[in-house]
Amino acid sequence: MKKYVIVGCGYRGIMSYAVPMVKEYGDCAELCGVYDVNRKRAELVSEYVGKSIPVFDSFEKMLEEVAPDTVIVTTVDAFHDEYTIKSLYAGCEVISEKPLTTTFEKALAIKKAEEETGKRVTVTFNLRFHPVFRRVKEVINTGVLGDVLSVHYQWMLDTEHGADYFRRWHRERRNSGSLLIHKSTHHFDLANWYLDDEPEAVNAFGTRRFYGPVTEKRGERCHTCPYAKECKFYFDIEKHKDIRRIYFDCEDADGYWRDRCVFSPDIDIEDSVSVSVKYKKGAVMSYSLTTHSPFEGANLVINGTLGRLELSKFWSGNVGDYSDKASRPMMKIYDRTGEEITYKLPEGSAEGHGGSDTLLRNNLFRGYTDDPLGQMADLRAGMMSIGIGAAANISMAENRQVNLNEYYK
Ligand SMILES: NC(=O)c1ccc[n+]([C@@H]2O[C@H](COP(=O)([O-])OP(=O)(O)OC[C@H]3O[C@@H](n4cnc5c(N)ncnc54)[C@H](O)[C@@H]3O)[C@@H](O)[C@H]2O)c1
Repeated sequence: MKKYVIVGCGYRGIMSYAVPMVKEYGDCAELCGVYDVNRKRAELVSEYVGKSIPVFDSFEKMLEEVAPDTVIVTTVDAFHDEYTIKSLYAGCEVISEKPLTTTFEKALAIKKAEEETGKRVTVTFNLRFHPVFRRVKEVINTGVLGDVLSVHYQWMLDTEHGADYFRRWHRERRNSGSLLIHKSTHHFDLANWYLDDEPEAVNAFGTRRFYGPVTEKRGERCHTCPYAKECKFYFDIEKHKDIRRIYFDCEDADGYWRDRCVFSPDIDIEDSVSVSVKYKKGAVMSYSLTTHSPFEGANLVINGTLGRLELSKFWSGNVGDYSDKASRPMMKIYDRTGEEITYKLPEGSAEGHGGSDTLLRNNLFRGYTDDPLGQMADLRAGMMSIGIGAAANISMAENRQVNLNEYYK
């Protein structure tokens, strides 16, 4: 039986780790302690899992008293490095939620700690376990595309999901490193994994013209906003039972408001980005992230020496209505003769992130399978994924091409 502790008891920490660990993996994993800067939120863990879990007032004390085998890091992104490094030096393995961290410097400090301690960091890229995105990897591995030459990659967030990043801590780059780190880390990881390659150089542009102070009709937060009735971004923090309990009912302890105004002047991250990446083996990728799309989804094109793969996957808005799915296949491969192969893709399940969270947890808690596709991501994968975002941030700030070897020696 392995001993685990969790640092960061927000939605992800409670719902995706604490609850399943206690309720589904009790035969192989024991949750022995939790820590959060907001003690009230940490105390909720016991309520959600249905048994008493020790709450600690200090992370160090938790490590000392519990001596866990593994620490699960589900705090705000900018603090992942602090807890990961302390855990490694305390002799623990680390399961870090994505992103690994928010800057090159922090990533290198984690790498140093991993090397010095011999302990291992796993980064939880659940999208690798999504049945659709996994299928792309399987198809590429058949060799049907030949060598990959270029990738066109669009990711769209709708105004429900996308707007949510502008309500919370993610909206400040000091917390999230921007969405190029926080969100795109998933997408860059998929690209790196598909190409079986590492990024070499990055150029990026980004703007913010949809969220932020684009209207005078704004308040500090939705809960007290005079424009609540007319604002299409109004978020009722009391409506969803778990959101109310985890955030609204705990906000007196730390002032974390889950419903800040999406039109706030405090927002300093981009809402539209365009990134060009050159890979070491020669492939090039053009990537864009839109956070205010009428629908949510992704378009991915991979061009190889033997053929072209086209994937479209949508899950909200009118295009996310799969009633016409028989007539709209989601993945096609074209070979050089123009022959078209249509791949029927498995639907994701209704569980967390298309069922990927469950598959990921099975691997995390029940031990690794033989992992033929390499779905478990190590520190290097975490570094390369945030490497593109960190380089893109520098490229935008300094208006130049950024080579990853300037930072990752
Ligand atoms: N893989 C995925 O699909 C996925 C989905 C959601 C979130 N995440 C990741 O999980 C992490 C948590 O996200 P969330 O949505 O649960 O956020 P959240 O805001 O709900 O929770 C963050 C928690 O961290 C705590 N915290 C803040 N600063 C801290 C500090 N210095 N020390 C200790 N605790 C601190 C907060 O009090 C809060 O309870 C993030 O890194 C996020 O990127 C991953």
